[in-house]
Amino acid sequence: MSDKIPVVLAGASGRTGMAVGRELVQAPDIELVGAIALRHRGEHLGALWNDPRLDLEVVGSLDEIPQAYAVLVDFTEPESSFERLRAAVLRGWDIVVGTTGFTLAQRSELARLVVERNVGAALIANFSVGAWVLEKVALEVSRYFDRAEVIEEHHAAKKDRPSGTALRMANLLAYSWRRDPKDIPVHSIRLPGLVAHQTVVFGASGQVVSLRHDVHDRSAYAAGVLQAVRKIHALKGRVVDDLGEVLEG
Ligand SMILES: NC(=O)c1ccc[n+]([C@@H]2O[C@H](COP(=O)([O-])OP(=O)(O)OC[C@H]3O[C@@H](n4cnc5c(N)ncnc54)[C@H](OP(=O)(O)O)[C@@H]3O)[C@@H](O)[C@H]2O)c1
Repeated sequence: MSDKIPVVLAGASGRTGMAVGRELVQAPDIELVGAIALRHRGEHLGALWNDPRLDLEVVGSLDEIPQAYAVLVDFTEPESSFERLRAAVLRGWDIVVGTTGFTLAQRSELARLVVERNVGAALIANFSVGAWVLEKVALEVSRYFDRAEVIEEHHAAKKDRPSGTALRMANLLAYSWRRDPKDIPVHSIRLPGLVAHQTVVFGASGQVVSLRHDVHDRSAYAAGVLQAVRKIHALKGRVVDDLGEVLEG
């Protein structure tokens, strides 16, 4: 039996799933044992990713993967993701979730199940180390400034708005200032040519501080996802939403 961590990737044909998946299969301690996508189901993953070494067929749902245990990595869309994550947790699998746009009710239900089944769960709005560093720096700036607005810019096909990353930033600043997150305006831009970008602008009399993070290539998310896959089983019993816990823990 292999001592590698088995991973099933949902969203294997997607922009982010492909970028993250290509790095997952390079990791010596991880084995990709399943790939899920809807419209691309039935296709050969090796052909889809242009890597003939990959001998897996893409399937349309988790039901088609009989694996006893795996870490489910999910970069899809919230509706199907919620059901898939639920099913994975009920099987006793750990979950590493990049998908954004869940409702509060969906998040609460997942959190409840994660505790009940005592599995590991990382629901992280942004797996790039740069976005996490931006949060830390923004919190530091919030000690000296008391007004800010967040601008998030994404590719035109992004479905949710504002982005999960921007909502999290507004929540963190609101918590730091003991205010309602609605008091921190978030502006969303959706245009071709963009990938994923966030600016936090702090203003005070006569001056501004602008903090910016740009993702130009989705490989930026891979290192965080790989670390989460490695650490998540040890963090079981609650939902981890801070990338720092998997990077530094
Ligand atoms: N947390 C982070 O760091 C981070 C970073 C980037 C993106 N994201 C989030 O990740 C998600 C995906 O973004 P993306 O830009 O990669 O999207 P995308 O390119 O549209 O890819 C979506 C993927 O989901 C699959 N899919 C959609 N509906 C499905 C269903 N019902 N069953 C199974 N598979 C299904 C698609 O497969 P088919 O095309 O074959 O149907 C495709 O592989 C979004 O929620 C985005 O906000 C998070």
